[in-house]
Amino acid sequence: MNNADLLISNIAVKSMPTTPKILVLDSGAGCLSIAKEISQLISHVDITCFADIAMFPYGTLSDEILVARQVNLVSYLAPIVKPDLVVVACNTASTVALDALRNKFDMPFIGVVPAIKPAVKLTRSGAIGVLATPATVKRPYTQQLIGEFADKTEVFMHGSNKLVLLSEQYIVSRNIDSSILKHELNLLLKKSVKPIDVVVLACTHFPLLQQLLANENTDSSIQWVDSGRAIAQRAQFWLGELKLPTAGEHAKKLELRFSGTKQSVLAAANNYANFAATYFARHQYKSIIVHTDDI
Ligand code: DGL
Repeated sequence: MNNADLLISNIAVKSMPTTPKILVLDSGAGCLSIAKEISQLISHVDITCFADIAMFPYGTLSDEILVARQVNLVSYLAPIVKPDLVVVACNTASTVALDALRNKFDMPFIGVVPAIKPAVKLTRSGAIGVLATPATVKRPYTQQLIGEFADKTEVFMHGSNKLVLLSEQYIVSRNIDSSILKHELNLLLKKSVKPIDVVVLACTHFPLLQQLLANENTDSSIQWVDSGRAIAQRAQFWLGELKLPTAGEHAKKLELRFSGTKQSVLAAANNYANFAATYFARHQYKSIIVHTDDI
């Protein structure tokens, strides 16, 4: 290559449009529900989903362990994935780890927290339900949201690890025990004397089960609310702030990463890739790339 060639290739590299990159973190399948919303709103973006299945479920970890894990994950993944922004696609982690992440790293972080505010706007009965992990239910952050946005609304919460496990099972077989689903939903609904007419899906796993939950509740019309769309809008806002182009050709590939040794995550990785091949409804990725991270 002579000097002129070198110059031309440098110019070519410089003028190539950058594709923004978003890292979406969760303990498992919750990263897919958020990634789906992002891919539906933002056409020109590369998404890496990281499922921390080595530490799943997050809802049973202590706050200290969970915060340290989020910081370790981002320290490890940021140099590899090089994201423009990170979405902590997990209510359980976001309600406790966002400050630590924002203090330590320079890139923007978007957290997913229970959608109490929109639910309060929607309710007619004045009683809303929140389905979350037991950890999210107990968090001061969740109480703060209720205090701030739901002073005139009754808020009933049910923390369910069973629904988290069921969501993961849904990824594997799409055939889950609906009696557990009904039981968990009823544990929430029967807490209120007034009819609960809005239920917040305050765990990113639960949108995967939304239709099945709705099927279990044929006698009343509940509105289901989650944070997915708002998170996608926030991501679009941030990419704009970073002056990155979000309009343009849709990304062709989706990257799925998993914590654990290759052997231990192989089955899960296959299941996620098969599921993702049809889950991203409005746009099918041409290739789904799977990585394991021994972390
Ligand atoms: N998807 C997560 C959330 O939004 C947590 C599920 C878990 O691992 O317990 O809370």
